[in-house]
Amino acid sequence: MKQDWKPGTMIYPLPAVLISCGSSESEYNILTVAWTGTICSDPPMCYVSIRPNRHSYAIIKRNREFVINLTTKDMAFATDWCGVRSGKDYNKFAEMKLTPGKCSVVSAPLIEESPLCMECRVKEIISLGSHDMFIADVVNIRAEENYLNRETGKFELAENNPLVYVHGNYYGLGDRIGKFGWSVEKKK
Ligand SMILES: Cc1cc2nc3c(=O)[nH]c(=O)nc-3n(C[C@H](O)[C@H](O)[C@H](O)COP(=O)(O)O)c2cc1C
Repeated sequence: MKQDWKPGTMIYPLPAVLISCGSSESEYNILTVAWTGTICSDPPMCYVSIRPNRHSYAIIKRNREFVINLTTKDMAFATDWCGVRSGKDYNKFAEMKLTPGKCSVVSAPLIEESPLCMECRVKEIISLGSHDMFIADVVNIRAEENYLNRETGKFELAENNPLVYVHGNYYGLGDRIGKFGWSVEKKK
């Protein structure tokens, strides 16, 4: 039997990503974001929703650029820490021993320890209430070569412990169940 709950957001699991921002080293910052996702394939577009009181908010609004860095199990501690400490008080790159790297298109730094970094340029900012939604074009992707399968050339993120966020807790990825379209594939 189902119960009624007051309205809330319960779409889980989600990735917990690290958003890096800033256009000069003194401004560089990182915040953890779970309210993120894909909103269009072509042109490739993503969103992140950020509360206006975050230190990163003004930085991203000013520069209109940021990087979505996917996270792994090895990055779990830093992912949590960057989500509970503010760049107002800490240099998060230094504190978490994360390495800022150069992007190809945007001036914001990427995080070298991340397997895949999506360079984003803000197209629109929509005030929704608690959060503002930054709608962005993905203008470049920097993918770690070590995650490429040498035989197939495929990017093997699933094999390399992506971090999963479910209602306040972090998990690893579970077992593979099937592939896109397998439900209608003819049995050999
Ligand atoms: C798992 C996790 C997910 C979070 N998701 C968001 C989010 O989607 N949007 C947001 O504004 N803050 C989110 N936060 C909180 C910010 O990351 C946090 O307030 C951070 O300290 C802000 O850093 P800053 O002040 O340096 O920008 C999240 C925190 C955690 C731990």
